[in-house]
Amino acid sequence: MWGAVGTPRLLPAAWLLALHAGLLAGVNITSPSALVRGTAGKAALLSVRYASASPDKPVVKWQLKRDKPVTVVQSIGTEIIGNLRPDYRDRIRVLENGSLLISPLQLADEGSYEVEVSITDDTFTGEKTINLTVDIPISKPQVLVASSTVLELSEFFTLNCSHENGTKPTYTWLKDGRPLNNDSRLLLSPDQKILTITRVLMADDDVYSCLVENPISQGRSAPVKLTVYPETIPRGTDHDRKTPLALYILKEQDTTAPQEDSSPPAGRSPGRGARRYHRSPAPARPPRSPPGSPARSRSAARLLRATGVPAIREQEEGSALEISA
Ligand SMILES: *[C@@H]1O[C@H](CO)[C@@H](O)[C@H](O)[C@H]1NC(C)=O
Ligand SMILES: *[C@@H]1O[C@H](CO)[C@@H](O)[C@H](O)[C@H]1NC(C)=O
Ligand SMILES: *[C@@H]1O[C@H](CO)[C@@H](O)[C@H](O)[C@H]1NC(C)=O
Ligand SMILES: *[C@@H]1O[C@H](CO)[C@@H](O)[C@H](O)[C@H]1NC(C)=O
Ligand SMILES: *[C@@H]1O[C@H](CO)[C@@H](O)[C@H](O)[C@H]1NC(C)=O
Ligand SMILES: *[C@@H]1O[C@H](CO)[C@@H](O)[C@H](O)[C@H]1NC(C)=O
Repeated sequence: MWGAVGTPRLLPAAWLLALHAGLLAGVNITSPSALVRGTAGKAALLSVRYASASPDKPVVKWQLKRDKPVTVVQSIGTEIIGNLRPDYRDRIRVLENGSLLISPLQLADEGSYEVEVSITDDTFTGEKTINLTVDIPISKPQVLVASSTVLELSEFFTLNCSHENGTKPTYTWLKDGRPLNNDSRLLLSPDQKILTITRVLMADDDVYSCLVENPISQGRSAPVKLTVYPETIPRGTDHDRKTPLALYILKEQDTTAPQEDSSPPAGRSPGRGARRYHRSPAPARPPRSPPGSPARSRSAARLLRATGVPAIREQEEGSALEISA
């Protein structure tokens, strides 16, 4: 064993030499976090601290690693050397311990930053890399139901998880508060933003919402109640018979056009960004059916209604209340 490693007598000596060099003649940089998640417009501290036996001021150099590395700043102690690039002017500070403070953050600041600290007396230069992400928070998502206002004949319908702002969104669809997986009937688009429900079943009668997340934030839509009515709709023409699983989708006007809730329900705070949807009385039956058509024997077509539910309890999963008109 020992023979394989080498000359045992040399090992302690080499180790001592390294230790000596490390402690007495090198700059040692530590950082509490190798990844900083920043918000556009806010400040980010790329936090480091260096240790050196020398009392001299260090030369600190921060670089942004790109195909061609960009020197962000060079300083002696906290004193910046030379002029900053225009895109960093007034946004950069080097702190006493070598940390880099960027404020306000821009999306383009995202990247991998390397710091080098060198002190004249020291033979070794300390180095550290910190990654910075910069994001815009996710604004409250909305569920858009892709179908028009009146009665529509369709084999499927889509729910679109839409939000105005927010970078690097990832989407999750929730049915009764539980994440939905891709399935042959409930199809998720590759980015999971669009949920398509095909061949609707009674089991789809539920509350749906979507969750959008990024490195710094998350947002959840108000729950949307889908009501599936078991309903035998008389069949119409020969043409209709070719689509035996066609659905009647009824969507009321303005269902997908949320309005700011100007009069929150008494005794409850709707919370930031809570929205209320227009609703009108739910018809117990389809308002019209093709006249003179033969009754359908196979599978019953189902009437679907998408109803926005006020987001008064959106924190509690699956507890959305449908307020009947
Ligand atoms: C640098 O500091 C860390 C943490 O204090 C320590 O574990 C490490 O041994 C030091 N390295 C050197 C070369 O002094
Ligand atoms: C930092 O970014 C680099 C390059 O993008 C990546 O290879 C590395 O894994 C990242 N490190 C951390 C701690 O996120
Ligand atoms: C460096 O200094 C700043 C400002 O005093 C402090 O907030 C930060 O935590 C320090 N970093 C480390 C790693 O000690
Ligand atoms: C989205 O960002 C713009 C520009 O910052 C802002 O004016 C708007 O209010 C934001 N929208 C939401 C829903 O937060
Ligand atoms: C989803 O909604 C967004 C925002 O309204 C729109 O830009 C996008 O085209 C919609 N996607 C689909 C597949 O309907
Ligand atoms: C879900 O499945 C469909 C069809 O197999 C596929 O096109 C789609 O990319 C899948 N979505 C996800 C999020 O994997």
